[in-house]
Amino acid sequence: MNLLDFTIQTTNQYIDQIPKSQRKKYGQFFTSKETAIFMADLFDVPAGKTTLHILDPGAGSGILSIALLERLQGIPQLKSVHLVCYENDSKIIELLKTNLDWVCQNSTIQINYEIREDNYILSQILDYSGMIGANPSPLKYDMVVSNPPYMKMTKDSPEAKAMPDVCYGAPNLYFLFAAMGLFNLIHNGELVYIIPRSWTSGAYFKRFRQKFLSEGTLQHIHLFVRPCLKNSEE
Ligand SMILES: C[S@@+](CC[C@H](N)C(=O)[O-])C[C@H]1O[C@@H](n2cnc3c(N)ncnc32)[C@H](O)[C@@H]1O
Repeated sequence: MNLLDFTIQTTNQYIDQIPKSQRKKYGQFFTSKETAIFMADLFDVPAGKTTLHILDPGAGSGILSIALLERLQGIPQLKSVHLVCYENDSKIIELLKTNLDWVCQNSTIQINYEIREDNYILSQILDYSGMIGANPSPLKYDMVVSNPPYMKMTKDSPEAKAMPDVCYGAPNLYFLFAAMGLFNLIHNGELVYIIPRSWTSGAYFKRFRQKFLSEGTLQHIHLFVRPCLKNSEE
């Protein structure tokens, strides 16, 4: 069994057990195997590096980073990966841990992982804003992969207040995750996200667009066409 198939099996069991209404509170929808592989293939693996640092914000079952690890196993010079997963839904942590433990035991490369059971945005306020108490050299990552929660926040929410430089009015959590992902990248690192296209226009997203396009370079956009299926997840 490859690394991804184990995760697909355990995630399907989880979906059968936890009602959709509960998962919705966390903006919890799962990426399909095909999309996870597609996203993993979009990364340019840095030549010559023997160790990579990977970040998966809002990791859920870990499918996105596990698809990436599956791909990285085929890179001859790569010896080890340090993976950090952020996830704030306590109900899914056990599944994430089960999947990552299985991957560590069955991968051909050495993998160390860390699960941060915390709010991806709020836990980094000090570092992001450079306030007193900030870590002067926080860990930065070669690759950030995410399917962030899509959730409208109020303009007074702690998350909106944590990132005033990208907010204008009520933000959506997905673009706060994208801006924070950019902050977490090393110079010349790569970020692959699956997000709605709403950020490409309108005043609400203007500050985010300005920051994202001035501090990062957009290399690839893929538009997913949603099939019209009955009983689909979302
Ligand atoms: C759209 S789901 C994606 C899950 C998984 N990455 C995937 O692609 O299948 C977003 C995940 O982010 C988690 N999440 C929501 N808000 C969060 C926050 N503020 N900090 C960390 N994780 C969060 C949810 O519990 C959920 O598992």
